[in-house]
Amino acid sequence: MPNWLKDAVFYEIYPQTFKDSNNDGIGDINGIIEKLDYVKDLGCNALWINPCYDSPFKDAGYDVRDYKKVAPRYGTNDDLYRLFDEAHKRDIHVLLDLVPGHTSEEHEWFTESKKAEKNEYSDRYIWTNFWIQGIAGHPYIGGEADRNGCYMLNFFKCQPALNYGFLNKTEDWQLSPDHPACIATREALKDIMRFWLDHGCDGFRVDMADSLVKEDDENKSATGKIWRNIREMLDTEYPEAAIVSEWSNPKQALKNGFHADFYLDHHGNGYNTLIRDNETAGGDHSFLKKDGNGDIMRFLIDYLPKYDATKNDGYISFITCNHDTPRARLTLGYDELKLAWALFLTLPGVPFIYYGDEIGMRYLDIPTKEGGYTRTGTRTPMQWDHSNNYGFSNAETESLYLPQDLSEDAPTVEDQAKDPSSLYNETKALIALRHKYDDLKADSSFSVIYAEKEQFPFVYRRGNLLIAINPSDKKSAAALTPEAFIKEGDNSGSQCKVALVHAIGECNIDGNSLTMKPQSFAMFELL
Ligand code: GLC
Ligand code: CA
Repeated sequence: MPNWLKDAVFYEIYPQTFKDSNNDGIGDINGIIEKLDYVKDLGCNALWINPCYDSPFKDAGYDVRDYKKVAPRYGTNDDLYRLFDEAHKRDIHVLLDLVPGHTSEEHEWFTESKKAEKNEYSDRYIWTNFWIQGIAGHPYIGGEADRNGCYMLNFFKCQPALNYGFLNKTEDWQLSPDHPACIATREALKDIMRFWLDHGCDGFRVDMADSLVKEDDENKSATGKIWRNIREMLDTEYPEAAIVSEWSNPKQALKNGFHADFYLDHHGNGYNTLIRDNETAGGDHSFLKKDGNGDIMRFLIDYLPKYDATKNDGYISFITCNHDTPRARLTLGYDELKLAWALFLTLPGVPFIYYGDEIGMRYLDIPTKEGGYTRTGTRTPMQWDHSNNYGFSNAETESLYLPQDLSEDAPTVEDQAKDPSSLYNETKALIALRHKYDDLKADSSFSVIYAEKEQFPFVYRRGNLLIAINPSDKKSAAALTPEAFIKEGDNSGSQCKVALVHAIGECNIDGNSLTMKPQSFAMFELL
């Protein structure tokens, strides 16, 4: 386990829209370098950069044409190597995005694989044996190649599935996961990883990590075996490199080699009930919504078994958002966002902040771009200041990669940095606390102190910190058990005094009773 992850607070950068350094309207690597001091000042000490490789951009870069080449629109490989260097000078680690399940249909492996003559790449992708033989239960394409067969897709039409084999084979064209061709796919993936790690990258966020072996068992044991093999390679050759999975099943991902796994927005799961449960009947039931229709138990019932089962294996990553999810600002106001970030930044595991969420950027209702569809509104250019195009780019406004929030009250870093009570300054303060207290590190202990069905507040312990949150717009109170005030490892059973170390709104502890004003958060230290 790379030690640096314990104190990591990630910042996700969508390279298209973070900072444009050469005024062509699209963000680039040099733009990211220019803003490293900003990231550092915010308190983030790790980056995840969405795919920045050569691509026809039919899925915003998740359709990789050349895994080892930076897309010219973002710069050169040398620019990216310099980014690694500059980030490291500031103690910032950098994860690239690894897309293991598919390539672009324009990848050289695929153009070779399509050929009628057998070659090294014939089995790199999944092909049937006959031009009208389809694939039951999976999307596939016929009629596009000289080769006599149809090929499987992993996501969009532009993304043919790489071949890691089938665990439960039912057709003669299916290869088993230990077939040499499938092993070769895995080794090719390792080769890509080594390439970037050798150039200074610190690891990878792994796209659709569970999608490798087809007709896998329900535990994903065959896909898991591949990741364990890759983890062994990392442990031996790059012990400080980290891999974070887009799997959203920590019991599977963390047992199979990942250091951290994202808790993604899946309808009705624990994460969803905290900030994005706005699709159920009867209004928004998110716990962080101030109207108080939420229920912390819906979160805990999902989260606690996952946390308990995996806390010794790796980390669950809470995210403010990502490039696939509507920004939380769509349904939450600044005050609600402050409390949401307070929760995510004080729970165990490794948190991720999506660029712009530190100022509460809006989700925009705009036309699709590069396969974004409804995701596009989450990917708009960062709003830095009140210069041209909010300081994102000096290009003509019409030629920006995506439009920006033109409303009067569009948030900017410049405005919020000046306002001590802004979401930006609150986020910064919370990140600073996370770095300051060992008890807030990824692996420090976590236990629930007070959580009742449809009640507020929610109170929990991290080590010797006692943390309480009341997102509702009514005041709330709780009588805490004596255990809440007993220091970790103290068997004498004596209750200690507490000191308030951080608060949003007003809170008070008198004896064992906690009272909280509407929409408040408090962190107390046991003395
Ligand atoms: C992941 C990415 C998403 C992409 C898809 C296909 O879900 O986060 O943006 O479209 O995989 O690669
Ligand atoms: Ca540019």
